[in-house]
Amino acid sequence: EKGGFDHFMLKEIHEQPKAYRDTMLGRISDDGRSVELPELKMTAEQLRGISRVHIVACGTALHAGLVGKNVIESLVRIPVETDVASEYRYRSPIITPDTLVIVVSQSGETADTLAALREAQRCGARVLAITNVVGSSVAREADDVIITLAGPEIAVASTKAYSSQLIAFFLFGLYWAQQTGRQDEASVAQILAAMQSLPEQVERILAQGEVIKEVAESISHHSSLFFIGRGVDYAVAMEGSLKLKEISYIHSEAYAAGELKHGTLALIEEGTPVIALLTQEGLYEKMLSNIKETKARGAHVLGIVNEGQEEEVSKSVDRQFSIPRTLPLLTPALSVIPLQLLSYYASLALGHDVDKPRNLAKSVTVE
Ligand code: F6R
Repeated sequence: EKGGFDHFMLKEIHEQPKAYRDTMLGRISDDGRSVELPELKMTAEQLRGISRVHIVACGTALHAGLVGKNVIESLVRIPVETDVASEYRYRSPIITPDTLVIVVSQSGETADTLAALREAQRCGARVLAITNVVGSSVAREADDVIITLAGPEIAVASTKAYSSQLIAFFLFGLYWAQQTGRQDEASVAQILAAMQSLPEQVERILAQGEVIKEVAESISHHSSLFFIGRGVDYAVAMEGSLKLKEISYIHSEAYAAGELKHGTLALIEEGTPVIALLTQEGLYEKMLSNIKETKARGAHVLGIVNEGQEEEVSKSVDRQFSIPRTLPLLTPALSVIPLQLLSYYASLALGHDVDKPRNLAKSVTVE
């Protein structure tokens, strides 16, 4: 049942190329120039009428939503807020009929996410669900549903569901941009072409799992570490940090790289591992100077960089892992893979139950 892998988590990490292909299948026109989402009931006119978006979810699904915010804001230029589902209802959010609420949930049964969905509908908003389970409560109650085709996810730590949620956000963002004329056909086609290369690019990353295994073994002796990034890299840093905590029980924090000097640098000591994501070219120089700040305090830095940039970065980091080149907005679908492997191998090195970490359940049906 684990298909030759030692754990469901590793199997599911390796299923991501297929999950990406399946989630895109039938949703990109044959000529590769447009997105087709016939499952959506909302009309182009309704889409045009939306003036704000709330993305609401828990845990890893929320982290996918943080990338989703970047995707929608940059492709559609509509303001997006993200919120923790267990907080959403209690802060009397401003929900108007022209608000689109997007709930993200692998299981479709998370109690807080379901409650947020109901609150949004009560206030008159339209709700779009991104979920992996057809027929789940969230799928049944939402006004529109985009199903991620990641297949069943057994390991408690979410991997392929998260990354397929990213694909769903890319598709929906492009669809929306196209329906409202926000992006021209050529740029949509360019992004779709890059998306179609992602599965093969993930395969190339997976083939280098041994490199990550070594790094994971060295960080497993530490009791605390940091993940840093800017822009979408910060969103991915948050997911990398959560994954590591939940299955290896090593404390870590994700920080927006520019925020370190406002307090957190106090925690960097000789040997503290720092995992720095450097996939956003426009933010490169700024990242390098933030990395320097940590190295000056003794940090041991692993850089996750774009292929071709190794030399430029080599003096600033202690080790690096490169990911294939894609468009800046799509990088999370690649950069998260080494972080998933890092947490898997760290947990393994420490002898923990990778698939069933302590204190956690796959589906959280209490608020
Ligand atoms: C972490 C993890 C959790 C879930 C969260 C929401 O790996 O799996 O953080 O993402 O409990 O679950 P769903 O997506 O089922 O609503």
